[in-house]
Amino acid sequence: MNSAGQASEEIAILFYWMSGGAVAIWLIVIGVAVYAIYHPGQHHPRTTKLLVLGGGAVFPTIVLTGLLCVSLPMLPDLQRPAPPGSLQIHVSGVLWWWRIDYLTSEGDTIATANEIRLPVGQPVEFKLNSEDVIHSFWIPSLGGKVDMIPGRQTRLQLHPTRVGTYRGACAEFCGTAHAQMNFDVVVMPVDEFNDWLSDQAETAKHPVEPDAIAGQQHFLKYGCSACHTIRGTHAQGAVGPDLTHFGSRLSIAAGVLKNNSENLARWITQTHDVKPGADMPEFASLTDRDVKQIVDYLEQLK
Ligand code: CUA
Repeated sequence: MNSAGQASEEIAILFYWMSGGAVAIWLIVIGVAVYAIYHPGQHHPRTTKLLVLGGGAVFPTIVLTGLLCVSLPMLPDLQRPAPPGSLQIHVSGVLWWWRIDYLTSEGDTIATANEIRLPVGQPVEFKLNSEDVIHSFWIPSLGGKVDMIPGRQTRLQLHPTRVGTYRGACAEFCGTAHAQMNFDVVVMPVDEFNDWLSDQAETAKHPVEPDAIAGQQHFLKYGCSACHTIRGTHAQGAVGPDLTHFGSRLSIAAGVLKNNSENLARWITQTHDVKPGADMPEFASLTDRDVKQIVDYLEQLK
């Protein structure tokens, strides 16, 4: 199992114990059944009674009690809150993407979307909720899943132990594009993470290339800014993902497409082929040149 977090390591151990117990019961039941097939009616009724009682009641009781004793003490560990001063991240599930806000120690928030970066070896506290229906927040390599419920805050503590890139997913059926509601999780060395976070706190880079400058004007003119925020510009929409550092993200449309110019052009012009049901309107009527300029603008937002 590809565990990269404390909770997922504990869940893996629990899985091995449970599987071991299940295999032991299965082997004995099948063994007794095979034995019975080849030795029909040769036993004293008392032996049969002992076999049925022993194999059918005593043995499963012992195994299941043993497994209960292994699993119950793990539960409080999986539920424990992160120590005070831990990194705090607020994540909202939205049909079908993730709004992510890093909470700084000064009480500010740093907005991003669809990608979570974490420092390795440190606990992190997620505060979770939903803006519409029930979603479920799950990074299988790091730990268990927790429901995101409208009108209520749930929480999850994770402790990544290994640097790497992992996949997060929505684990609760939430509509048409449920299977396309994913996110990237990048666990980084602490220094790199701190640099990344201070970059994310900055306002957007001003475009310098002529195409990117034109792209920014199209972005404002064609209404993209009604839904998207790009901090440091007039784009202040709050309906869709914050795009301030869009170019630094690994994927587009909540983990659906790799982030590159070709895929971004496809997402802007064939939105509903890529993700049926997505709220973003399809900008199929834009000229290729306008699309290219918008793509150039967004991709340089590192
Ligand atoms: Cu959100 Cu499934």
